[in-house]
Amino acid sequence: FRTLDGVEVAGRRVLVRADLNVPMHDGKISDLTRIERLSPTIRELSAKGARVVVCSHFDRPKGKRVAEMSLAPMAAALGQVLGRKVHFAEDCIGLPAQQVIDTLADGDVAVLENTRFHSGEEKNDPAFAADLAKLADIFVNDAFSAAHRAHASTEGVAHLLPAYAGRLMQAELEALTAALEHPQRPVAAIVGGAKVSTKLELLGNLVGKVDVLIIGGAMANTFLAASGLGVGKSLQEAEMHDTARAILAKARAAGCEILLPVDAVTAIAFKPNPPTQTVPVTAVPDDAMILDVGPQTVALLTARLAGLKTLVWNGPLGAFETPPFDAATVTLAKAVAQATDAGTLRSVAGGGDTVAALRQAGVAERMSYVSTAGGAFLEWLEGKTLPGVAALSA
Ligand code: 3PG
Repeated sequence: FRTLDGVEVAGRRVLVRADLNVPMHDGKISDLTRIERLSPTIRELSAKGARVVVCSHFDRPKGKRVAEMSLAPMAAALGQVLGRKVHFAEDCIGLPAQQVIDTLADGDVAVLENTRFHSGEEKNDPAFAADLAKLADIFVNDAFSAAHRAHASTEGVAHLLPAYAGRLMQAELEALTAALEHPQRPVAAIVGGAKVSTKLELLGNLVGKVDVLIIGGAMANTFLAASGLGVGKSLQEAEMHDTARAILAKARAAGCEILLPVDAVTAIAFKPNPPTQTVPVTAVPDDAMILDVGPQTVALLTARLAGLKTLVWNGPLGAFETPPFDAATVTLAKAVAQATDAGTLRSVAGGGDTVAALRQAGVAERMSYVSTAGGAFLEWLEGKTLPGVAALSA
């Protein structure tokens, strides 16, 4: 892919595809991370004299104008983060967009209204992509987290204008490539979360790439049950047992070591701070649910960190939103942060739940790299080509 290095942008109109799909609560942005991580690209383009035109989707308005899904609050937040005026256009194509862009001086920044207010966006309609392309001279994609969508503003428009990766896109691609395509070995992945079924392709791809695969979360229950252990009333997918066994066999053949929990924290009821019992995975009571991996598992995993050079983390080890079932994830996250601080481990994390868990542990800033992506990070781990990324190299 082409970066912004050496690109002449002064006086040119630069359409930047950002991911302003930020968490909102009661009409207020609750987390500015994506806007902060976008800001270096906008600052650089603006400092070089570009007329910066930012476009993005927000939420899923399904081709209709939905007032609550306007990008106006994101435009205001971007202005605050940048410490400068950010203009706003009430449509992302046509006259409303054109008129705002025409008023921009070199270095000015504008945000266009939600691209998903037009059905052509998700259909990757060439006519809609052409309408976007008309607004600019250069296209910069800085939305790695939306690059798994082959939409007009992520894919289509990249073929109609000279297209470059923004600095955040570049950082994401460099970090993920270094972690998984050319890692310093041994490389391990931690995969957690509820279901084997949603992470099937990811597990299948990772066993061919990493030296050690650590499986946690409720999906570990499926693996334990598939290996013939009783998991009581734990969340698990009985119909995935054959698949789980096939993944274990594939791992053995590929020389990938799979680490499953050896002990578990269980409870009879899933609620905050219930009475709990910590048991070996060979002795889970029939009436109990596994809600976190146990301290012995955490100790084993922590000891293994010492021998690792690279770690990719996606998915919490337990039901981390409900205390005390965040304990294993928090303890291991702190150990990962320590190994990262010590310079012995390169740690890369991604996915909404994972980043929330790392924040809860207070160590998100201490990872080598935290991706802004959710779905796109998963598809990258699945080994898929992301259309928004591919279009930058075409
Ligand atoms: C995300 O938040 O993962 C991206 O912005 C993609 O959003 P989408 O799942 O609505 O396409």
